[in-house]
Amino acid sequence: MSTCLVTGGAGFIGCAMSAGLAGRFGRVVAMDNLHPQVHATPGRPAALHKGVELLRLDITEPADWDRLLADCDPQVVIHLAAETGTGQSVTEAARHTHVNVTGTAVMLDALLRNRRIPSRFVLASSRAVYGDGAWIDPVSGDIAYPGTRNRAQLAQGEWDYGARRALPSCAATTPAGPASVYGATKLAQEHVLKAWCAAQGAALAVTRLQNVYGPGQSLSNPYTGIVALFCRLARAQKSIPLYEDGRMLRDFVLIDDVVAALLAVLDQPGPLQAHYDVGTGEALAIADIGARIAALYGAPAPHVCGEYRFGDVRHASCRIDAMRQEFGWRPRFSVEQGLARLQHWIEMQFEIEAAVS
Ligand SMILES: NC(=O)c1ccc[n+]([C@@H]2O[C@H](COP(=O)([O-])OP(=O)(O)OC[C@H]3O[C@@H](n4cnc5c(N)ncnc54)[C@H](O)[C@@H]3O)[C@@H](O)[C@H]2O)c1
Repeated sequence: MSTCLVTGGAGFIGCAMSAGLAGRFGRVVAMDNLHPQVHATPGRPAALHKGVELLRLDITEPADWDRLLADCDPQVVIHLAAETGTGQSVTEAARHTHVNVTGTAVMLDALLRNRRIPSRFVLASSRAVYGDGAWIDPVSGDIAYPGTRNRAQLAQGEWDYGARRALPSCAATTPAGPASVYGATKLAQEHVLKAWCAAQGAALAVTRLQNVYGPGQSLSNPYTGIVALFCRLARAQKSIPLYEDGRMLRDFVLIDDVVAALLAVLDQPGPLQAHYDVGTGEALAIADIGARIAALYGAPAPHVCGEYRFGDVRHASCRIDAMRQEFGWRPRFSVEQGLARLQHWIEMQFEIEAAVS
């Protein structure tokens, strides 16, 4: 029976995938240091399927890897462990680089040192690798890659690139150009894994995920998960603050659809090296999702607060043709359905908390 190792397997995506993985592999091992910024309590997450072994170990520690690999020979590795704060990464570059890049390299050295060469890796990369991506001139049709907005542009409220329109990213055609340290570390992860897998003859599927939201996302982590953050504010009857002019576009994809995408990639091995964009394929303004969440909770309407953040891109969305064509995968949940599921789950968490306190 084959073994699957999931780094960061006790996190949002890891827990959501755990039942699907337990049904597919003889042994599933989650390696996770239960990072306190993500995990409000240091225990085993209730959402982690009981068939998954959880080992509290750190991916940046070679000795932790040697302990794990002494008794674990994974054929498949799903690499999820990461520092994920986009804004935070701009001021804590070393921390993000250490875990995301060095941690990946430490994992690969440990696999080789312990003579454990998996046949496949799946990396959860991010739409952050594109940065601001491609923008089209609607009159001439000319496409440009304007790069990162600078301090002067942001200070003057020049949110867009003139009259140009942002194009959805597509792994096959959009060059990477991260705008945040986080995005740069995710791109470096991709490159490090790609080079190592080519040398070792292992297959690698890189999934570039858009904004994942839904039941199970950390409600205590203030640095990631804008939908969970908005829900917390609206639930407390606060008006959601909107950065820039609130018109930034994002592709919000429900965790259930992301799990289905990752499992589809696992079930049907594609080419040796491939990149896939995972989202809904549709973009929604931050102000719109804020308004929907405020309405769900009967909270005051969101307001433009006049702030902005370095490392944030103006728009992010993607094309999902490759996932559709290669795996027959498509997102099944609308944002209304997704938000209703999330709201229900959040209420359950507060009920559980009230019952135990
Ligand atoms: N959630 C999203 O919107 C999203 C979008 C794009 C990409 N991703 C990527 O997907 C992956 C999983 O994201 P998530 O949303 O589940 O995040 P998460 O923070 O919920 O899970 C990450 C897990 O990694 C663990 N971890 C962190 N540092 C570690 C270390 N040094 N050693 C071992 N474990 C460590 C944490 O404890 C956590 O359980 C990440 O690589 C992230 O970059 C997520």
